[in-house]
Amino acid sequence: MRTQVGIVGAGPAGLLLSHLLHLSGVESIVVECRSRAYVEQRVRAGVLEQASADLLVEAGVGDRMKREGLVHEGINLLFNRRLHRIDFQKLAGRCITVYGQQEIVKDLIRARLEASGQIIFEAEGVGIEGFLGDDPVIRSRECEIECDFIAGCDGDHGVCRTAIPEGILTRYERNYPFAWLGILAQAAPASKELVYANHERGFALLSMRSPTVSRMYLQCAPEEDLSNWPDDRIWDELRTRLECDSFQLAEGPIVQKGITPMRSSVCEPMRCGKLFLAGDAAHIVPPTGAKGMNLAMGDAAALARAFAEFYRSGSREMLESYSGACLRRTWRAQHFAWWMTSMLHRCEGDGGFEHRRQLAELEGVVGSRAGAGYLAENYAG
Ligand code: FAD
Ligand code: DHB
Repeated sequence: MRTQVGIVGAGPAGLLLSHLLHLSGVESIVVECRSRAYVEQRVRAGVLEQASADLLVEAGVGDRMKREGLVHEGINLLFNRRLHRIDFQKLAGRCITVYGQQEIVKDLIRARLEASGQIIFEAEGVGIEGFLGDDPVIRSRECEIECDFIAGCDGDHGVCRTAIPEGILTRYERNYPFAWLGILAQAAPASKELVYANHERGFALLSMRSPTVSRMYLQCAPEEDLSNWPDDRIWDELRTRLECDSFQLAEGPIVQKGITPMRSSVCEPMRCGKLFLAGDAAHIVPPTGAKGMNLAMGDAAALARAFAEFYRSGSREMLESYSGACLRRTWRAQHFAWWMTSMLHRCEGDGGFEHRRQLAELEGVVGSRAGAGYLAENYAG
């Protein structure tokens, strides 16, 4: 097989890149190691910045998101049992849309297949070669795809980044001493907008997927075992950490549970010869700032523009500047996600100093236009 851009990974980055390339008349083939059902059901992110939502609409894949997504004009911070609203519309003139990542993945897969786009699911033994020279190839047990370029959109555990010879990339990393236990529950969300809670027992987040489905997270230890968290314990902990006068948590059957460790990592540059990395394959942010999927979509959009420019005019200028431009945005998001994380999570073993420092910081954020404005501008993107 032969194509212009061979894409490894059918997550938001790979699928959006393939769709945008198609709109510009550039051919691509997506190679994914999981099944279609698996990628369409993987529960992950849920918050789209205004620019990401606008991009889906402009690219013609935003109809269902416009119908089913929940547009929010702000979020709430909860500390000392009091709720404080940060009004994004007023402070930054922008909104966010709450719409599950797997719904975006479904919408993009449908659009690609309707346009006769090729996605090879359940590819086994995927590997890449030849990107340092002029003959990049994506190989798997069932296919061999010759391409002009490879886009490595295969997430943090993929094969593209690790195929780059040693000494070319620098990886900057930080592990956080906690993880998130996430649940999806058939329960009406207790608050209309997201609630980020700093509680002495640890961070909690109330989010949602629809008027009848809640998505919630609890800070836990990175080595935590899910079997230690029966449903009753999860609800007890959520009730305690989200307690306030403004709402009461509604409970319902928990239909999905998972634990995600929290990490920051960035690899520089995001390119090696004819291999371009995008999304989680190049960088991971802790989920507190809701930035990971938005960064992945931003990379895909930038890479699609650069390839389109190359095939239209032969110019490599945008391909050359891809890594630098994406890394600048990544580091801003990295800083924001680190800031939100360190302001909201419980740190053990410092005798309560950090918790008191966090409360003072939170008072500063909700009590000043500059503080709230910084949060609003960075969160809404
Ligand atoms: P992925 O979604 O990881 O896609 C990579 C794809 O490549 C996968 O389909 C994988 O199966 C495939 N693949 C892997 N290896 C291979 C291989 N060898 N061969 C072929 N295919 C391969 N982000 C936000 O913006 N907002 C949020 O609210 C948010 N919340 C989150 C909450 C949680 C609990 C988690 C875990 C993440 C959250 N994120 C959030 C982050 C977001 O989910 C990721 O940043 C996003 O999935 C990145 O998209 P991607 O396409 O780069 O990578
Ligand atoms: C969700 C995930 C996040 O990481 C976040 O910061 C906010 C909301 C969610 O899954 O809804």
